[in-house]
Parts: sequence; C-alpha cells; structure tokens
Amino acid sequence: MKTSKITILILAAAVIVLAVALILQRRTPAIQTGSPIEVIMTRSSVRSYTDKPVAKESVETLLRAAMAAPSAVNKQPWAFVVVDDRALLSSLAEALPNTKMAAEAQLAIVVCGDMRKTLEGEAALFWVQDCSAATENLLLAAHAQGLGAVWTGIYPNAARADAVRSILGLPSYIVPLNVIPVGYPASENTPKDKWKPENIHTNGWQAEAE
Ligand SMILES: Cc1cc2nc3c(=O)[nH]c(=O)nc-3n(C[C@H](O)[C@H](O)[C@H](O)COP(=O)(O)O)c2cc1C
Repeated sequence: MKTSKITILILAAAVIVLAVALILQRRTPAIQTGSPIEVIMTRSSVRSYTDKPVAKESVETLLRAAMAAPSAVNKQPWAFVVVDDRALLSSLAEALPNTKMAAEAQLAIVVCGDMRKTLEGEAALFWVQDCSAATENLLLAAHAQGLGAVWTGIYPNAARADAVRSILGLPSYIVPLNVIPVGYPASENTPKDKWKPENIHTNGWQAEAE
C-alpha cells in the first residue's frame, strides 16, 4: 500500500474516533469538575430525569460519599437501600405523593437509620443527624457527577415510613429517613439564592431590627 493511502486511512480513522468521542461527550452531561465549594453552591433539587442509565460505578460513588459522612461517636447508624427495579420505583411513586418523580428516575436510594447501631438513651436520636449528613454527601456526590437527585422526606411521617417499609420489606429496626430518586437531569437547574445575612449572629444573639 502506498504511503499516501496509509496516511489517508490513519486520518480517516482519527476523524471517526474524534466524531465518536464528540457524540459521547454530548450525551454525557458535563461532570462538575469545580471546587468542592462550587459543587456545594451549584447543587439544586432535581425532580425530572432523562432515560440515560446510571453506571454502577456512579452509584457506588454516591454510596461511598454517603458513608464518608461524619456521625456521632462514629456510630455510622445507617443503611442504604438501592432501588433500581422499575416495578418497585413505580410502587414507591404511587404510595408516596411527595416522591412521584421516582417513577421516572433511574434509581432511588433510601437512606435509613439502623436502630441496632444507634447510641444509647437520648443520644439515640443523633441517628437523624448522622443520616442527614450522609444524605447531603450523597446529594453533592450526585451533582458532582452530573447527576440530579432530590431528598424526599419520609421520617418522621409514620404513614410514609410504613409505606416504604412494606414496599421494600424493611425490618422494624430499619427506619427510612428519606427516598432519593436519582437520574441524569432532564433540564438545566438553577440553584436558589438562599444567602440571608440576617440569619447570622456574631458572639451571641442580635435582636432583629424593628
Ligand atoms: C428534610 C427534607 C425533606 C424534603 N422533602 C421533599 C419532598 O418530600 N419532596 C420534594 O420534592 N422535595 C423535598 N425536599 C427538597 C426541598 O424541597 C428542597 O431542598 C428545597 O426546596 C430547596 O431547594 P434546593 O434543594 O433546590 O436548594 C426535602 C428536603 C429536605 C431537607
């Protein structure tokens, strides 16, 4: 084969590889590569999703981020139920009016407190804060990967907790704190500006101006 033909073949192959890479890049929402502060400041609740599947590795990153959260006396009194079965997602959406978006999500993660792992006495209630810290880590890890997610509240609403318990077959010592539907965002989401200097007090409580 002539050198010129080989050069044309190599160039053609390079163009094909470049085109495929560009198409794939378009399909994959941009991964947030900004600083941790930027990820925190640009997160928002995402309630509608595309049908693009979420890779198992991405889900594992969500769970690793959740489990990296702080917890009182490092008890880690949490458990995570990953739901990617369509029928179960539909059941959750039907039973929980506040979690309707689960029906179109690629998966949902149910963040639960494990009552066998809590501290003793009144400190047992720290499980709520521990699992909330894990939840926020999970939401931020979703956003950092270009995914969208929303915290839908379950505990302390007994009816919602019973519904989740019955759909997922949770034992009595597992309390669902929330259901987090996850998927790639169907549209752009603008974070809300919540900066309110009046919420800040320095060295004690300053009374609000009349
Ligand atoms: C404890 C808690 C419960 C929530 N429950 C729901 C819910 O049931 N359904 C829902 O769509 N969003 C729920 N959210 C999301 C809030 O509506 C959302 O965080 C808030 O409006 C601020 O918007 P942002 O997350 O986009 O900043 C909940 C958030 C928290 C922290």
